[in-house]
Amino acid sequence: MCKIKNGFSSFMEKEINEIPEVISRVKQEYKTKDMSEVRAIIQAAPFVHIAACGTAYHVGLMMSRYLEEIGKRSKVYIASEVATSPPLITQDDISVVITQSGETGDTLNALEHFKKQGLKTIAICNVDESTIARSVDFNLSTFAGPEISIASTKAYCAQVLVAEILVKGMPDADCRAIEVISKSPEIKKKAKRFKNIKRILFLGKGEDYVTSLESALKVKEITYLHCEGFATGELWHGPLSLLDSKTLCIVYGDCKKSIDTVAEVIVRNANIWHVSGDYHPIEKIIHAQLFALYLSQEKGLDTDKPRNLVKSVVG
Ligand code: AGP
Repeated sequence: MCKIKNGFSSFMEKEINEIPEVISRVKQEYKTKDMSEVRAIIQAAPFVHIAACGTAYHVGLMMSRYLEEIGKRSKVYIASEVATSPPLITQDDISVVITQSGETGDTLNALEHFKKQGLKTIAICNVDESTIARSVDFNLSTFAGPEISIASTKAYCAQVLVAEILVKGMPDADCRAIEVISKSPEIKKKAKRFKNIKRILFLGKGEDYVTSLESALKVKEITYLHCEGFATGELWHGPLSLLDSKTLCIVYGDCKKSIDTVAEVIVRNANIWHVSGDYHPIEKIIHAQLFALYLSQEKGLDTDKPRNLVKSVVG
């Protein structure tokens, strides 16, 4: 296992900077991989059940959107809910579990549940030798390499890309991860400016909603700030009461709704950071990962080892 930071301030910073090479590796590996069997199984299935925890759950939400784009029904479950609130399963449905470590107890339990129901199983997993990777019918490797920082960064990007390749095929556009990473000095300045902010709300629609959820998890994990992700339209249904001068709203998207949101936020004296532009979800999340990293460093926290958290929740 590579335990050298290569001159970076933390493993998290090193791992974010590895994203461009991870993206290239995933594309290279999947260019020649025969996916026909696993794709045929998805095509034939009436319904896809997806289970995962934390960051990997957000990959599941992204995958579910991709499945919807190709006309395939699916549902994403928080893995710890599967055994206690069993999903309605019909014959020939299939299941997908997503996990960086391949050892997460809740995800393993969900997988066992799906197997008992007789479902075919697919994993999107970063550790080929892990329990989950070895227990499924099809394991799709994510080639992110060892991830040491507790906050998952490069593994999330690799998982999203593998889900996209599996469901929709190889993306045409080149990933502009390097371009986003080159904005690090600007993002660092924002982190300095918002060092004492009390709460952060991330808002977005569609894929941006998923990015908002993952952004909020990333920032709360390593800064200990109260952060939440919302679908932009939900702002008017409760969260509006949170807006004040100690709140930062990071709004993803270009649509009219996001412009209305920006106006709403400004009028309530909350701080706003509008992240617009035609960016892929992977490019957008790198932005949030870097912001989380620098905010955590501004607060003098241990970015790689946030309090109370472990890399893999096996129990
Ligand atoms: C990610 O930043 C978190 N540390 C956490 O949510 C993690 O994604 C979750 O515990 C699932 O882990 P896994 O991907 O190894 O199954």
